[in-house]
Amino acid sequence: MKTKYAIVFICIVALVIIEKESNIISRVSDKLTQRQIPQQTPQTPQDYSNTTENGSLTLLKVLLSQLPGTERNYSNYSEGQQEEALDAFGTYNNSGGRKHVLLMASTRTGSSFVGEFFNQHGDGMFYLFEPLWHIERMLTTTAEGSNGTVLAGIYRDVLQALFLCDFSPLEKFISPPPQHHVTPDLFRRESSLSLCEEPVCTPAIKDVFERYHCKTRNCGPLNLTLASESCLSKEHHAIKSVRVRQLETLQSLVQDLRLDIRVIQLVRDPRAILASRMVAFSSKYQTWKTWAQDGQVPEDDEEVKRLRGNCDNLRNSAEMGLSQPRWLRRRYMLVRYEDIARYPMQKAEEMYAFTGIPFSSQAKEWILRNTQTTQEASGIYSTQKNSSEQAEKWRFSIPFTLAQAVQKVCGPTMKLFGYKFVEDEKSLINKSITLLEDRLFN
Ligand SMILES: *[C@@H]1O[C@H](CO)[C@@H](O)[C@H](O)[C@H]1NC(C)=O
Ligand SMILES: *[C@@H]1O[C@H](CO)[C@@H](O)[C@H](O)[C@H]1NC(C)=O
Ligand SMILES: *[C@@H]1O[C@H](CO)[C@@H](O)[C@H](O)[C@H]1NC(C)=O
Ligand SMILES: *[C@@H]1O[C@H](CO)[C@@H](O)[C@H](O)[C@H]1NC(C)=O
Ligand SMILES: *[C@@H]1O[C@H](CO)[C@@H](O)[C@H](O)[C@H]1NC(C)=O
Ligand SMILES: *[C@@H]1O[C@H](CO)[C@@H](O)[C@H](O)[C@H]1NC(C)=O
Ligand SMILES: *[C@@H]1O[C@H](CO)[C@@H](O)[C@H](O)[C@H]1NC(C)=O
Repeated sequence: MKTKYAIVFICIVALVIIEKESNIISRVSDKLTQRQIPQQTPQTPQDYSNTTENGSLTLLKVLLSQLPGTERNYSNYSEGQQEEALDAFGTYNNSGGRKHVLLMASTRTGSSFVGEFFNQHGDGMFYLFEPLWHIERMLTTTAEGSNGTVLAGIYRDVLQALFLCDFSPLEKFISPPPQHHVTPDLFRRESSLSLCEEPVCTPAIKDVFERYHCKTRNCGPLNLTLASESCLSKEHHAIKSVRVRQLETLQSLVQDLRLDIRVIQLVRDPRAILASRMVAFSSKYQTWKTWAQDGQVPEDDEEVKRLRGNCDNLRNSAEMGLSQPRWLRRRYMLVRYEDIARYPMQKAEEMYAFTGIPFSSQAKEWILRNTQTTQEASGIYSTQKNSSEQAEKWRFSIPFTLAQAVQKVCGPTMKLFGYKFVEDEKSLINKSITLLEDRLFN
């Protein structure tokens, strides 16, 4: 511990010396200064003052590696010690029975909907919706943000802290910065029931009918200290994120013996994802529309390369998960959105069984209510859909040319997940032809 404080101290000194430090770093260091000014005398400080050539990146990493909740103290258990921590079910059990669910998805895969399965669990659940949004937004135009390795490390460390109910690493990325751990700006706070209920939200006027809506309830700014206390009091934790790209970047998080992590990777037919994005983010996808009209998709275009990269990431993560490396054993589940849409209750039950969290009657009721309605979706993030019908709609909105292009670019990914190719437009829009192979993954 002493060495740790010493390193932090030296880092801060180094930061003062380096004039061109970035905004983020100075905020990180402020935080560290407030929280961790060492009482002890530094003993054998490592010298980080000669890292200037590589500047902010290295320092940011160094600083982040000193944040509480990172792997450092827990990563040097030997295999034998890890084995001792395994319980009868072969899972770590140092978390006091608490489960930590990470719903790992990409945009337009129905992850808001599936996230609700856990959000609606009831009193024992602390659920966070896309906390990493803040990080992406703040770092997106910076060197840190454009280096995938560095960004993935930051995502992992912040997730780790959040699973431990520590919001301070996340606070550094909330803009404007929270004042005394209070912010009105947490992204989509209203999507987390536990942030909208007592004691985190104590509205002046109570209304039982508005119990579950931050929007209609005047919660006031979010006190993150209260959120953290609420988190600590809840039996289970779940986080949904569309920002983790590669499963392997989570290894040290999964191996943290304080946590009992379950990763659910949610995937969807890449053709459906593209179709859905073209509707939801219409202006951003203008080029695709032009290609559809031209009848040609240039494979060397950046947009197409990005699609290929996304599909490759999905496949690499799934292949890693399904290959069951030791560190992921019994901790990884692959779920297709289409299966959830067809059999929501059964799939929810399977997911709950996998996590080891009891499938509550509240969650069941929510799923019943929200998969049987014929009510139209009322917004791009709406979770109220007739799921089975909704899941097939894309077939009528995507031009065949684009479906074909996706099949070419994402072929191996589609094969792995069991999405059938179509050879002509007729089969694309013929609903009696299923595009889904029955598959059991886990
Ligand atoms: C500083 O530079 C020296 C010599 O290049 C190197 O041995 C040392 O590891 C560096 N220190 C750090 C913290 O990078
Ligand atoms: C981790 O390694 C350090 C230094 O080698 C050692 O002092 C510490 O006891 C180890 N911790 C555990 C939990 O093995
Ligand atoms: C893990 O430990 C807790 C208490 O320490 C216990 O209640 C729970 O049943 C254990 N879980 C398993 C799967 O053995
Ligand atoms: C990203 O950062 C890592 C770790 O600092 C470094 O090894 C790698 O070269 C960087 N990649 C790019 C593209 O800058
Ligand atoms: C936030 O909640 C904590 C814990 O109850 C309390 O001590 C603190 O005063 C609150 N902060 C503000 C600004 O109300
Ligand atoms: C959802 O929509 C489909 C197609 O319109 C319909 O067949 C199905 O009965 C609906 N499901 C429910 C649960 O209402
Ligand atoms: C749709 O596919 C089914 C099964 O292959 C076929 O029998 C039917 O004729 C097709 N319908 C149309 C309109 O092509």
